Amino acid sequence: MASEAKGRRFDSCRARHRLIVAVTGASGAILAERFLLRAQELPEIERHLILSPAALLTAQLELGKKRRDWAALADVVYRADDLAAPLASGSFSTAGMVIIPCSMKTLAAVAHGLSDNLIARAAEVTLKERRRLVLAVRETPLSLVHLRNMTLATEAGAVVMPPVPAFYAGVRTIEAAADQFACRVLDLLGWSHPLATRWLGAGAAP
Ligand SMILES: Cc1cc2nc3c(=O)[nH]c(=O)nc-3n(C[C@H](O)[C@H](O)[C@H](O)COP(=O)(O)O)c2cc1C
Repeated sequence: MASEAKGRRFDSCRARHRLIVAVTGASGAILAERFLLRAQELPEIERHLILSPAALLTAQLELGKKRRDWAALADVVYRADDLAAPLASGSFSTAGMVIIPCSMKTLAAVAHGLSDNLIARAAEVTLKERRRLVLAVRETPLSLVHLRNMTLATEAGAVVMPPVPAFYAGVRTIEAAADQFACRVLDLLGWSHPLATRWLGAGAAP
């Protein structure tokens, strides 16, 4: 009976697509919040969320959000120090991973394969398994170290995607800009969200 129940749980996981969503301590916790909300609206996506301790700090400062608030936005939540979590192994199949927002510290860890927490390890696994890894890097201005690390991450197969607003999409609020960014990340991961604004030519501009 026990193995049957385990088997059913496994099948229900595979029926949806597992997506790893990591949140780090770069500014822009709203990007993670809106991404998780938009992903929640696509029922085939199973959200596996990792929050770094610095992410919990910035989210508290920027949004007043605590760990339990994030839990409501994910199917499974992991501690960043849980290096024995299933996500630390390539045998746990996923559709990919997004780090949103991605700090320069975590970018450096990913670029150099320094996997001392679950976020960096899951990113390393995503790259080695040749799965899609999107890094929503947030810093400005950028130093040569940041730029070199972005080059290294890109050469290793990641997509470096700074959260730059799609001004042409007529966004007027931070929430709308974050939603459009979330939709573009979902595009890159293979999902089309109905809220995505598509450029249809100058005549059709909003
Ligand atoms: C309010 C606040 C805003 C921050 N903004 C950024 C940022 O935009 N980009 C960045 O790389 N680091 C930023 N940091 C610093 C990171 O939180 C810090 O480097 C941390 O060690 C990142 O750890 P993590 O990647 O494990 O989350 C910020 C820190 C605070 C407290």
